Amino acid sequence: MNTTLKIAIQKKGRLHEESVVFLNSLGYQFALAGKGLTQACTNADVSLLLVRDDDVPALVSSGVADVGIVGKNVLAEGANNVSVIKSLPFGVCRLAIAVPTGSSIACIADLEGERIATSYPRILRSYLQRNRINAALVQLCGSVEIAPEINLADAICDLVQSGTTLKAHGLVPIATVMESQAELIASPFVRPQTEAFIKQVALL
Ligand code: PRP
Ligand code: ZN
Repeated sequence: MNTTLKIAIQKKGRLHEESVVFLNSLGYQFALAGKGLTQACTNADVSLLLVRDDDVPALVSSGVADVGIVGKNVLAEGANNVSVIKSLPFGVCRLAIAVPTGSSIACIADLEGERIATSYPRILRSYLQRNRINAALVQLCGSVEIAPEINLADAICDLVQSGTTLKAHGLVPIATVMESQAELIASPFVRPQTEAFIKQVALL
């Protein structure tokens, strides 16, 4: 039986550093040298899977990883069978709708009939439905903030943390779709090492 606890975290980006610090705080040390996408823990039977944040829920849901750390926003966008063990105090941001400065769109009612670019079509569609707005969704995997200036969309729905990216593209937020932060999630295929890890986290 494979006894190694597999933990999926973001390879690089907003959650990477703090995910490692959180695991360090539980006593797990990693060398994190080189470009390897798996990293063995140097002092416990634990292995890190370094992946795109968008892939963390599916890897944990299928049991490829026992646990994972991912943004609440990414978790809400996918249809995954995972359990949230704990909300973690980092990666705090919000999913917001923003428009170009000076746009005639000033509130969510003004989005009726407009085009909104996003990487979060599922969350956005449900938000628009709840608010009875009909809008056309333009789906992008990234660099969503570019959409208005190239006339691909009239508004965007994307993550805002510091607000620097919005500002750089002359965009102002008009509504918050959801608040987000990092979540520690576990697979439905619970193994003894997963149970031990969950117990350890519960004692924090
Ligand atoms: C997010 C989002 C914005 C940026 C906002 O990307 O897509 O571009 O960060 O941050 P700011 O308000 O601090 O400027 P993320 O890091 O999640 O990258 P990813 O979508 O490629 O995972
Ligand atoms: Zn991502």
